[in-house]
Amino acid sequence: MIDAHHTSSLTLSEAKAEYEKLGTEIAKHDDLYHGQDAPLVSDAEYDALRRRYTALEEQFPELKSDISQSQRVGAAPSEKFKKIRHNVPMLSLGNAFSVEDVDDFMERIRRFLGMSADMLLEITAEPKIDGLSCSLRYENGVLVSAATRGDGSEGEDVTVNVKTIKEVPLFLNDPSSDLALLSHLLSQAEKEDQGARVKIPEVIEIRGEIYMRHDDFAGLNTAQQANGGKIFANPRNAAAGSLRQLDSRITASRPLHFFAYAWGEVSEMPAQSQIEMVEAFHTYGFQTNPLMKLCHTAQELITHYFSIEEQRATLGYDIDGVVYKVNDLGLQQRLGFVARSPRWAIAHKFPAERATTIVCGIDINVGRTGALTPIARLEPVTVGGVVVSNVTLHNEDYIKGIGNDGSVLREGRDIRIGDTVLVQRAGDVIPQIVDVLLDKRPSFAIPYAFPQVCPCELKTPAVRDVGLKGEDGSVRRCTGEFACPAQRIEHLKHFVSRRAFDIEGLGEKQIEFFYEKDLIREPSDIFNLQLRDQASELVKIRNFEGFGELSTRNLFHAIDSRRQIGLERFIYALGVRHVGESTAATLARAYGSWAAFWAILERLTGQDLLLCEDARAELDALDQIGDAVIDALCKFFGEAHNMAAVLRLVAQLEILDAQMPKQDTLVAGKTIVFTGSLERMSRDEAKAQAERLGAKVSGSVSKKTDIVVAGPGAGSKLKQAATLGVRVMSEDEWLEMVV
Ligand code: IVH
Repeated sequence: MIDAHHTSSLTLSEAKAEYEKLGTEIAKHDDLYHGQDAPLVSDAEYDALRRRYTALEEQFPELKSDISQSQRVGAAPSEKFKKIRHNVPMLSLGNAFSVEDVDDFMERIRRFLGMSADMLLEITAEPKIDGLSCSLRYENGVLVSAATRGDGSEGEDVTVNVKTIKEVPLFLNDPSSDLALLSHLLSQAEKEDQGARVKIPEVIEIRGEIYMRHDDFAGLNTAQQANGGKIFANPRNAAAGSLRQLDSRITASRPLHFFAYAWGEVSEMPAQSQIEMVEAFHTYGFQTNPLMKLCHTAQELITHYFSIEEQRATLGYDIDGVVYKVNDLGLQQRLGFVARSPRWAIAHKFPAERATTIVCGIDINVGRTGALTPIARLEPVTVGGVVVSNVTLHNEDYIKGIGNDGSVLREGRDIRIGDTVLVQRAGDVIPQIVDVLLDKRPSFAIPYAFPQVCPCELKTPAVRDVGLKGEDGSVRRCTGEFACPAQRIEHLKHFVSRRAFDIEGLGEKQIEFFYEKDLIREPSDIFNLQLRDQASELVKIRNFEGFGELSTRNLFHAIDSRRQIGLERFIYALGVRHVGESTAATLARAYGSWAAFWAILERLTGQDLLLCEDARAELDALDQIGDAVIDALCKFFGEAHNMAAVLRLVAQLEILDAQMPKQDTLVAGKTIVFTGSLERMSRDEAKAQAERLGAKVSGSVSKKTDIVVAGPGAGSKLKQAATLGVRVMSEDEWLEMVV
């Protein structure tokens, strides 16, 4: 047995050699025990290795490094999580709920790539793990940081916490080293093959899911109950709660696991297909899901889906569907993304779970844009492991059983207070009422009378949107705009929300509180809060209930740390109607800087009608931006008080230029028009490719057009180009230039 204590006679270099050898050995046993369920040594022997390791570390603290096994036990609490920006965004997946949806997915891909039905298309199918995704960054094989998904572009730095998860290697197995090969028990031929093929890239971000197993979840809740701790609703919440601990020693005590299935930044790709990438991750020392399968037809995908669904109950961990991904990475690249999801992947969800409960009341919520949204308060009910106590009823027509397009919902059954309803929850989709059980309707239940005025103290009339461009017509909206306190508060809440300014310690409750105290009335007030606090002798935040000396200081600090903000987030945070995240990103990328964006807004809302029309056309040429967005921008920035409020805000901030897709391409910033038929790619692919390279794609030729790519059959646009002297090229010339 190894002696844990007598380390004092060692020299530093002897200690270092032993320490490193022990570290590798401990890592190997961790992998055998946790990863492969095949321990080689007894617990006592393992503990002895660890004790000796710790003893060496205590005697020679300088031995500790980024790959020390002692990090597995966690470290003293930190104050809060820092942010990490994802160089490659962490995306989400589109959903399929039926076999038809899967067929459509395959069809879309073939159409986009211009592939006929008889051409081979490989697709992988693997379980969708119901945990939380995490991005692990390895530099020269060493784990340097770990971040949660966050909003996809920025996550939280959970490095110390993640280092306590035994299934996350602190350093990657080098497949060409003896130890790695031994531990994976490969045949000689396999060794040579792997060694030749898989090299550890200088930088690789490995992404996957942190999750908790069913038995561990039950055990944790029992222990929590015994200690009076928090009881978790489901394994995913338990995993998330365990990871997001400021005291990483708590994370260390929680049984978390990790499956690797995706990647972010990679300096040299170790493989050219999805399945080989995941195999490479396995050789690096990660757990990968054994149910991943390579399929060739939609039928094969569906068969595998049902086979996974059958095994669902016995897997020992939660999954909520099956993810399909195009196997060939070259094709993935060509397919690219739409908004936040890849075109080359989809999540085929398992059927939704349902439960019945009673509607106890209907409340009206006033949104940022004045929309009155009815919310049903329910007798709490568990649906698919989550307690649901309220669901949105969308609008007054929905309550009556009428859909947005005038269609009939629930066979026309309306929803009344007192009704028994069927509630459904499909994975991460928000719960909804799918039916009303008429035979359970009590005699006192009367049709719901939708309010005609805003519920705020001003009681402003609320009118239906009917007839306006871009409206669905069923929304009743308060006409008070910025005079309506409910709307102002919602604007502020949106402003500080997670995907906008995301100010720690300034959530919805605090906004309401400061609004009531008259300290925050518009966004710029947030950044003046500290000054006002210092200036006022009467109102001191630290004296308010719930705010101590420390939390006030933390709040000011959190506000200060957000004085720098990316243009995408900033535009989104303004809360202009119809300008969601993806529209905000499009605008930010098109204009690059706040100054440039402001310039177009000034033209758009200015007195000069010609300039105004010009600005409209320029915006209209951007992908996914049409009349609804342009009208909303006009309306918002056309109001002098909004303009003034924005300027007061901007004066407090440093707005960072947008992250551009690619600046150094030949077509970046150029406006391209495709016309005629394209032969080597579909119109959609051509458009997506041009946009990836930083170009704008427009549907019509004007003097602003830089290049017209013309295929056979091109007509009026080609003529127009000739008249205006715009450069014209063939599809081949175009491809030669950009690929
Ligand atoms: S692939 C670009 N594969 O699902 C796509 N995601 O809605 C990257 N998830 O945030 C994701 N299991 O947390 C992928 N086998 C799997 C997954 C998986 C679970 C989660 C992941 C992601 C979300 C997407």
